[in-house]
Amino acid sequence: FLGAVGSELGMPTYIVGGFVRDLLLNKTNFDLDIVVEGNANSFASAFKNYFDIKIVEHKEFLASSMFFHDGLRIDVATARTEFYKRPAALPEVDMSTIKKDLYRRDFSINAMAVKLNQEEFGMLIDFFGSRNDLARGTIRALHPLSFIEDPTRVLRAIRFEQRFGFEIEVRTAELLKNCVREDYLDKVAGQRLRDELNKILLEPQPLKAIRRFSTLGVIEKLFPGVVFDRQIDFAVEKYFLRRPRNIGYIGEDRVFYTLMMILLRYSSNEQVQWNIQRYGLPRNFLERLKDARENADNISRESPERPSEYHRMIKSKKAETLNFLNSQLDDERDRSFEEYLKRLKGTKLAIDGEHLKRVYGLKEGPEIREILDALYCARLDGLEIEKEDGFVKNFL
Ligand code: CTP
Repeated sequence: FLGAVGSELGMPTYIVGGFVRDLLLNKTNFDLDIVVEGNANSFASAFKNYFDIKIVEHKEFLASSMFFHDGLRIDVATARTEFYKRPAALPEVDMSTIKKDLYRRDFSINAMAVKLNQEEFGMLIDFFGSRNDLARGTIRALHPLSFIEDPTRVLRAIRFEQRFGFEIEVRTAELLKNCVREDYLDKVAGQRLRDELNKILLEPQPLKAIRRFSTLGVIEKLFPGVVFDRQIDFAVEKYFLRRPRNIGYIGEDRVFYTLMMILLRYSSNEQVQWNIQRYGLPRNFLERLKDARENADNISRESPERPSEYHRMIKSKKAETLNFLNSQLDDERDRSFEEYLKRLKGTKLAIDGEHLKRVYGLKEGPEIREILDALYCARLDGLEIEKEDGFVKNFL
């Protein structure tokens, strides 16, 4: 139907980019990116005559997003040639044809289109040998300035390489390394880099990508002062390969914070502050990192065994702190720490402060806190839930 609307308006209409790539790879992809040779905003308005959709226009990009009630979203853009006023800036946009539109894209595998107008419905458009690269497993930039115009493509190249088990083509790798060496990553807003990093962290094999970062010289540019030595490599490996299942909610941010803690384990305060600014980390991140480092040192010195011992030693129970600590432990400590995490997640007290006041006549004050703490530790160490009252009586 998209093609029919396009034809009605006399606009050649295509589906492009990741969708076409994934179609040829037999992978599902619900990112529907449409490109029209014509005004995308008029296209979206015409589409609205037939479907009850919400439209959000991105006027400066000559593009619209169409939202359907069932959650489906289709992005429509005007075929465009971009010109970049300066490296790493967002592009200016001009009307153009599909060929130019595809040429400005990042890699050949992402630069195919399928025509949607009825006359030529389903025709694959491949100007740049994309299909061949897809078959051979090659990530290839379409032109020499690709990385300079948009340095986040450095991270994208590595992401696609790891995701599909492809390889960055030799010349493209040279262009990539040049871009990195010449500090173009510095020109990109931290948030955009963080978004790209997050996408990598959500892939099934982030470890391989991070190692690739390190061999391509990306780590020290993204995180100045970080030396990706064996110790850090080991901790990153441990985190990604043996992420304990017990740490509960692991959102995007938590994974990012964990990685930052691991990478910045040995960095100076100034370096940590620099990264806080650059990547918009929480203001108290340095304090949290210091606490976590101290926790790690204490654990390795005092070798706790019981869950309650861990519990008393570790101040913050945030996912990133627990993940960080896990990544720093040696193998012997793993079992007891995992046990602690399991208990931490599964333990909830049956009685509360109100109960203590009502049943035992205790007054508001520090004593209640103290009893509940002691009780919680006992529960972590195995006290059954039915014995909570017995424990309190004993305590009093
Ligand atoms: N694109 C680009 N340069 C970028 C980002 C995107 O040329 N820095 C183009 C590519 O053609 C890409 C399309 O825009 O296919 C859509 O981008 P995006 O949705 O970010 O990526 P996908 O290729 O769809 O990848 P994913 O499957 O990870 O969503």
